Amino acid sequence: MSLEKTYPKEVKQILSKYPPEHKRSAVMPLLYVAQEEFGWVSPEAIEEVAVLCEIDPTQVKSIAGFYTMYSEKPKGKYWLQVCTDFPCALRGADQFHEALLQHLGIEEGGTTEDGLFTVEHVMCLAACDKAPMLQCNFHFHENLDMEKMKALLDQWRAEAAAEKK
Ligand code: FES
Repeated sequence: MSLEKTYPKEVKQILSKYPPEHKRSAVMPLLYVAQEEFGWVSPEAIEEVAVLCEIDPTQVKSIAGFYTMYSEKPKGKYWLQVCTDFPCALRGADQFHEALLQHLGIEEGGTTEDGLFTVEHVMCLAACDKAPMLQCNFHFHENLDMEKMKALLDQWRAEAAAEKK
């Protein structure tokens, strides 16, 4: 699937922000569009972004690989990134991460069978005083416990079911 065909207006708008000699600066916003649309940055998306920015695909790939906000593997509809870095661990993030995995019946990095949830632990997301916290598709959820988490999971399941109707 082509970004340019699916999002012609957005792609044009992003590229128009940069002078032709700095097209490469559009790499991150274009990768963001790909990630939002497809849930991951596929090799095809990397190739397309490279063509749009007139740079080598290996440069795009290295940027996609560096930032945790981009995934180079398919994910569940809801990508749950739990911070388990040291300050969050002091506030119970490890136990929360483990309880979430157990509740969903998956291993770290795994995706639920219904394709809805992928759980990964990540390094600091800059919300250290609000642990346990996670980022779901780039939105923060803070001061969590499993009760609040179960309510969120139910909400997302309901939203996904409503989208299918
Ligand atoms: Fe978890 Fe900073 S250590 S958000």
